[in-house]
Amino acid sequence: MSTKGNVLKALEENKGVTISGEELAGRLNLSRAAVWKAISELRKEGYPIDALTNKGYCLAPDSDLLSAEGIYPHISPSVSSCSVHVFKTVESTNLTAKKMALEGAPAGTVVVTEEQTKGRGRMGRSFYSPPSRGIYMSFILKPRFDASKGVLITTAASVAVCRAIEKVTGVSCSIKWVNDLYAGGKKVCGILTEAVTDFETGQIEHIVLGIGINYSTTAEEFPEALSEVAGSLFHGEAKGSHCNDEDGLLPPSRNRLIAEVINQVLTMNEELESKNFIGEYRSRSMVLGKEIRILASGKAHEERDFSKGIPAYALDVDDNGGLVVRYEDGTSGTLNTGEVSIRPVK
Ligand code: BTN
Repeated sequence: MSTKGNVLKALEENKGVTISGEELAGRLNLSRAAVWKAISELRKEGYPIDALTNKGYCLAPDSDLLSAEGIYPHISPSVSSCSVHVFKTVESTNLTAKKMALEGAPAGTVVVTEEQTKGRGRMGRSFYSPPSRGIYMSFILKPRFDASKGVLITTAASVAVCRAIEKVTGVSCSIKWVNDLYAGGKKVCGILTEAVTDFETGQIEHIVLGIGINYSTTAEEFPEALSEVAGSLFHGEAKGSHCNDEDGLLPPSRNRLIAEVINQVLTMNEELESKNFIGEYRSRSMVLGKEIRILASGKAHEERDFSKGIPAYALDVDDNGGLVVRYEDGTSGTLNTGEVSIRPVK
């Protein structure tokens, strides 16, 4: 790791606490001049680092710039072989992860960015990804079984992200099939899973799992078309943002939540075959037992007309993550992918 990276890691591990230049230099085996140079570079990059005469340096507790150094300290030992790459801006982390997979990046690689200029959503939609307000991340995963069960990866990821959000922020989430996470009646997270196929064999080599979380975008900031549906985990101003401020009340950093998403997703990915998460998926489901409209089936050659949405009743989620529905004519069927909405009660 570079000198700057080592200094940042030490400051991130002691966020809100002042460490003397001498102590930093001693711990990192650097000269005090080298520490000062690294601090100046980090400040130029936007890190709010206080320099207190005769006391030392302190990374402000509300510092929320994304960095691998800020994420790694929160990664569980059981998934510590993951490799996290943080960017300032990319078109889409799914696209970057796909390119990296094709260039040989291994499973367990995670791509994170402050901003996406062409964030992608499901069904060819875009995903609003403004700087500093959200979490945009993609995992390179190795498919553990036949791709027709790919919906299971997304189903498991929905549960894993709910667990991470709850553990770190205390916000409890429900799941709208297939994989939209809702809190306070608004969509706070979307998940997009894509396959990376070997050009020659046509085999699925990797799965790219992309997760977008609206962290602190305010209602006014969302584009008008999204404002009815989209919401964020946090809205209010944070208190207590100064160094050594003991009774501050701050939302957890995005780095901390990203680390927990990594912990939960990679742990669950190891246990996919057990399907233990399906019970939790069902209990978090917003659609089970509701009158719904099927808006798309996700099938390439679908003959049914979805323009008005097909009315149905959501009966169950099967062990592969498929949605079992009963149609108005009394027949039933299973959707493996697609999109549904909940019909308002008349
Ligand atoms: C949806 O709600 O339709 C899915 C949204 C998925 C958004 C995430 S953000 C990180 C990753 N990169 C993308 O371009 N999309 C996914």
